Amino acid sequence: MKKTPYLYTLLAASLLSFSACNSTTSTSASATTDAIASAAQAAAAPELDLAGAKAAYISYCSGCHGEELEAFADRKWKHGSSDEDLFKAIKHGYPDEGMPAFAETFSDEQINGLVAYIQQGIKGIKAYDFGNEKTVEAVQQSEEQQFRLDTVATGLDVPWGMAFLPGGEMLITDRSGKLFRLSKDRKLQQVEGAPKVLAQGQGGMLDVELHPDFAKNNTIYLSYSAVKEEGGQTLSSTAVMRAKLNGTKLSEQKVIFEALPYSRTRHHYGSRLEFDKDGYLYISVGDRGNHDENPQDLARHAGKVHRVKDDGSIPSDNPFVNKQGAVASTFSYGHRNIQGMVLHPQTGQIWTHEHGPRGGDEVNIAEKAKNYGWPIISYGINYNGTVLTELTKKEGMEQPLHYWVPSIGPSGMAFVTGSRYKNWEGDLMVGSLRFQFLSRLKMDGTKVLGEEKLLKNIGRVRDVKMGPDGYLYVAVETPGTIYRLVPVE
Ligand code: HEC
Repeated sequence: MKKTPYLYTLLAASLLSFSACNSTTSTSASATTDAIASAAQAAAAPELDLAGAKAAYISYCSGCHGEELEAFADRKWKHGSSDEDLFKAIKHGYPDEGMPAFAETFSDEQINGLVAYIQQGIKGIKAYDFGNEKTVEAVQQSEEQQFRLDTVATGLDVPWGMAFLPGGEMLITDRSGKLFRLSKDRKLQQVEGAPKVLAQGQGGMLDVELHPDFAKNNTIYLSYSAVKEEGGQTLSSTAVMRAKLNGTKLSEQKVIFEALPYSRTRHHYGSRLEFDKDGYLYISVGDRGNHDENPQDLARHAGKVHRVKDDGSIPSDNPFVNKQGAVASTFSYGHRNIQGMVLHPQTGQIWTHEHGPRGGDEVNIAEKAKNYGWPIISYGINYNGTVLTELTKKEGMEQPLHYWVPSIGPSGMAFVTGSRYKNWEGDLMVGSLRFQFLSRLKMDGTKVLGEEKLLKNIGRVRDVKMGPDGYLYVAVETPGTIYRLVPVE
């Protein structure tokens, strides 16, 4: 048999087949005996020594499977995922594939301990396996609220950002490079005069935000991947344009923010836009895939939350204005890739979430001058399964309010306000790109009490916003659709 390199599967698609590959092809006598032994032992000794199993895992398994057990969580099982399958794999190995047998090393009881240790560690992933569940038409049942989906817009590609115009219209960005105005009778019209973008990888037309005084000044803000040719290379970076909106035309366009330096990469642009109660504009910029140089270096824009005035100038009380060499717009740093940012309706603080590497997506409150630790501390590991950092905590670096292992790929963020969804009030809604659902984080102040998964298998959820009509709006990719969640009694 050909030796298979040990590769971790990255695609969400593979996770959907997680339960589908549970069948084991081998029915050898030894497997059956082992299964019985394993079951009998589990029954006889329900209290398995997880601490001992962890120590054994670190010394015998981590070299190939990664120090953090999360490595197992993000993979597609080849030989089945039941306790028996794992038991068999560990005891007899798959020598042809490079998995050694441990029958001589461990007793059955110890192997059961390892099985329990791995199963416990990957529990998270099962919570995201929704099988074929998908409901768009019917009334959606959920823990505390029934609702149905109202389709507000279709025919989009990757709807990335939404902003609500006074009078019931909407602006919608499409990552392909377009800005749309959705009329009250729900027709999409393309807005002219939007910036030129580099619609490659994760780049394109990204977020849209209205000026707090939009009703008076018609001013909007767009974040996007700006493009520049230099030395025969196409480079890009996160930028923000301010413009006036008249019907379906933009005028007085001005680039008020540009992250430096430009880069050859096509990912981790950020870039959510949010105004606070004092009229400052916050801009998230991702690490552009360069975590060694960007997030911890105050002289670079990437891997930060920035805070500017509505014209792009720098507030005098920004934390690093007097620091030699630092980018003056920097508000907080040590971020990886923030694609969710929202003003807390009561406290006025800026809440964010960011993508972890493999595992370790975080929810944070972005506070002035604070360091969120990337890549020095993280609850995730490298995509290839190697250890990125041993540290999850460090003095002088912020701990997340919540983190996800495995990664859900968060995008978009909204607090539930108003009276339409009474039992959800104050909860935090977050879209999942990877597992294609809408997360409702049950909140008590800054504490996350639990998570409910709504809209299972709806598609990659790119944005979620509270509309001025008191309804939640959700932007979903492939096919690009905007839904409104309408409560039903
Ligand atoms: C020398 C490297 C190496 C070591 C050490 C090692 N493994 Fe493996 N393991 C592998 C490879 C290679 C596979 C084959 C699966 C693949 O290619 O995806 C594998 C497969 C497995 C599987 C089956 C996975 C599946 O997809 O069905 C389990 C379970 C497992 N290992 C657990 C362990 C445990 C527990 C230890 C420690 C006691 C351990 N392994 C030690 C390399 C290793």
